[in-house]
Amino acid sequence: MPTLELHPCRTAFAPEDLEGGVAVVFDVLRATTSLTAAIGAGALRVWPTETLEAARAVAQRRRAAAPSTPVLLAGERQCLKPEGFDLGNSPAEHGAARVRGAELVFTTTNGTRALLACRRAAAVWIGCFWNQRALLSRLADESRPVHLVAAGTAGRVAYDDVLAAAALARALEATGRFTPLDGARACRGAYSDDLRDEARLAEALGHSQAAENLRRAGCADDLERVARWNTTETVPGFDPERGCVEEPTSHG
Ligand code: MLT
Repeated sequence: MPTLELHPCRTAFAPEDLEGGVAVVFDVLRATTSLTAAIGAGALRVWPTETLEAARAVAQRRRAAAPSTPVLLAGERQCLKPEGFDLGNSPAEHGAARVRGAELVFTTTNGTRALLACRRAAAVWIGCFWNQRALLSRLADESRPVHLVAAGTAGRVAYDDVLAAAALARALEATGRFTPLDGARACRGAYSDDLRDEARLAEALGHSQAAENLRRAGCADDLERVARWNTTETVPGFDPERGCVEEPTSHG
């Protein structure tokens, strides 16, 4: 049986630990929810970068490579849109009106770093509450080791991300097809079935440090926005060789 592991933050594993496995990355408040929103709304692809400087440089390269395709800079620092960027990191900003037919270059404090930390995995999926059922069906027949990666905050555990990863861990375990490893066993209790109720889920997320940061930045509306179960079939995939996130066609 394939193994199922839950890494409670991006510093809890080394990139090579994921070799040959499948990773699902969660930064539900808000990077992976926004990535799912953007790809689901018709963004052509998203280029994640660690730094603002790298984002600007990639945007310049992409504009030169494909002058007829709009290239938007998106992301946050301290939850706010960086100066000169087109979009922030709220899923509300990543709807079709802004992103359809565009390429995004995306940098966030934790989410894009966690994604890039998964570069050695054989396949990398983007996870959030919106696409849990779609993730479950994508992974149900998986024969490779599965790594659920909770992005965390500044290299430390974040409750919101562990909660989302734990919900998927519980659902995968319930299939009886996976052998849970220590991280999955230790963290799966973060999720309980009463959180299927979206108001309770939003309330639970509200206890996290990420929620506190969003409230301070005036972005509290995003708490309820991310706390929705199974609103989309979109499961964006990150292709480490090309360095971009897309709606998967061939890889994985
Ligand atoms: C991050 O990547 O650190 C978060 O997505 C921050 C945010 O919610 O803006």
